[in-house]
Amino acid sequence: MLSRLVAVNTLTKNKIKIITKECIYLEKEIIMCGIIGYVTKEKTKTVIPILLDGLKKLEYRGYDSAGVAFLNENKVDIIKESGPIVNLEKSLNKEIESNIGIGHTRWATHGKATKENSHPHRCGKMTIVHNGIIENYLQLKDFLQKENYSFISDTDTEVAAALIDYLYEESGNVLDALNDFIKKAKGAYAIAIICDDFHDRLFVIKKASPLIIGVNENENFIASDVPAILDKTNKYIILEDKDYAEIYADKINVYRDKKKIKYKINDFKGDKLLIDKQGYEHFMLKEIHEQPDIIKNLIDRYLKKEFILPDITKYQKIIVVGCGSAYHAGLIGKYLIEKNLNIEVSCEIASEFRYKKLFLDKDSLVIAISQSGETADTLAAVKISKACKAHTLGIVNVKESSIAREVDDVIYTEAGTEIAVATTKAYSAQVLMFILLSLEKNVSKIKKLKSLPLLMQKLINQVDDYKRIASYIQEKEHLFFIGRLIDYAVAMEGSLKLKEISYIHSEAYASGELKHGTISLIEKGTPVVALVSDKSIAEKTLSNIKEVKARDANVVLIVSEESNLISDCYDYKIVLPSILEEAYPLLMIIPLQLISYEVAKLRKCSIDKPKNLAKSVTVE
Ligand code: AGP
Repeated sequence: MLSRLVAVNTLTKNKIKIITKECIYLEKEIIMCGIIGYVTKEKTKTVIPILLDGLKKLEYRGYDSAGVAFLNENKVDIIKESGPIVNLEKSLNKEIESNIGIGHTRWATHGKATKENSHPHRCGKMTIVHNGIIENYLQLKDFLQKENYSFISDTDTEVAAALIDYLYEESGNVLDALNDFIKKAKGAYAIAIICDDFHDRLFVIKKASPLIIGVNENENFIASDVPAILDKTNKYIILEDKDYAEIYADKINVYRDKKKIKYKINDFKGDKLLIDKQGYEHFMLKEIHEQPDIIKNLIDRYLKKEFILPDITKYQKIIVVGCGSAYHAGLIGKYLIEKNLNIEVSCEIASEFRYKKLFLDKDSLVIAISQSGETADTLAAVKISKACKAHTLGIVNVKESSIAREVDDVIYTEAGTEIAVATTKAYSAQVLMFILLSLEKNVSKIKKLKSLPLLMQKLINQVDDYKRIASYIQEKEHLFFIGRLIDYAVAMEGSLKLKEISYIHSEAYASGELKHGTISLIEKGTPVVALVSDKSIAEKTLSNIKEVKARDANVVLIVSEESNLISDCYDYKIVLPSILEEAYPLLMIIPLQLISYEVAKLRKCSIDKPKNLAKSVTVE
């Protein structure tokens, strides 16, 4: 491998290691899970509600287990539980007085989601919470065992606690121990520490895993991201890789390689996290209902020139990257840009893009789509693209998130805080941005979008139709979503929505491809959701619908009024009202979101926090 290296890049800030002819290798960005920490001057304050509040805001990063550590009458108490944060909350006495504490919410990567494996971990005088992976933890563990350390969990975090403790015992100075730790521990880590010898401060270390310090009068915070502390302060410090710090209630010292460094205190200008269902049974339902307003605001603001979109026609090549639903929105963007702007667009899954051979240069535009702005694969794709000199444009929902900060230009989707793990409103806002980009200031067409919010609302209101379809689907084991071209992209999103919240297996297929193999799975009663918005290919899709009907499938047909599809080949039918053709994906997705929601409800699934998932996927 080394013989193939052609250049060494010095962009250390972006963690770009090595550029080869084939691809660029990045240090791993391993930032799943959430960290919160708090220190105050008030000795009699109870920190537990503050830690819990912060953890709830970070729960989007994982909810397999959670724990806190806090000073309780001169000793550090640790309480942790498997499962969501409510489990931890039940085990905590919120009245205990304390001035200092740390907390963690976990999405299991290494080791099961058990109480033993959850954080905080303690060794010697160190109690720590940790995001990331210590890659050489087995060698370190071996060494530490010979130094008489013993371990009760299988985690790398306990090894990190022991190593910090060992280095502290050796040097007699915590800060030196932290600097030594950075030299010895390989991998990615954001670590928060309470040391038994110092009850007035927290310590932190950061490498390749985000960590910020929230700054306030006589109290300071640490967190994995800024929104977690916004209720308390909007002032924050971003730690850079290999920084370590000591955080008192009224003083913060940041160090790099044994030198105290100057830091900048930033002002957060984005939205606060709003965690309120406002009467809806689930956040997902609330967020589905918010879509017409979000779309209306964006269209109005765009027409009033309150935000402008970049000219993307000047690039020779456009690549759209994203994961999951963001990737699906990108697929819609590909169809629209190709059709309206006559530029070839490729759409790539970010986790593949980051490791494949790339053909990027200064004439390429890479559009990175992300609700959270924290998705590790998408962030890595941006960094690689920049290293290849491509221009990067982010379509991001969370302001000042990692991707928003990293890209050359950013468009904010302004969908507001999205809490449900299954994205709905942020996805729709992404799709709208692609519609606007592809219409390229064609005001007369854009004005035709003005009826869109109302039509979306009309579809949202057809709840009885969705309930009826859901009660038919709820007991099925598999189903198919089919469509052609842009409808195929929407089918992928519909299929993902159903899978992630109802746990029913489904596949999205390009309608014409079904007969090349998968049609063998169609049998009596198999549900097939057929999407037909584009009148130019409606007849073609109809042939495919007939093929599955001939094999006794049950067809849920979602069809545009405009496609003029006259057919009795369906068992259930939803008609989409007429709109500018570019906007159909935004109508089509409403029944798909609501059918999935109703199915998940009937199956009594955990709709807002589906099993095994996290809102923001910050591991690769
Ligand atoms: C969709 O409902 C998902 N939960 C998931 O696919 C998501 O879209 C994906 O992980 C990308 O997230 P991002 O938009 O925050 O980057």
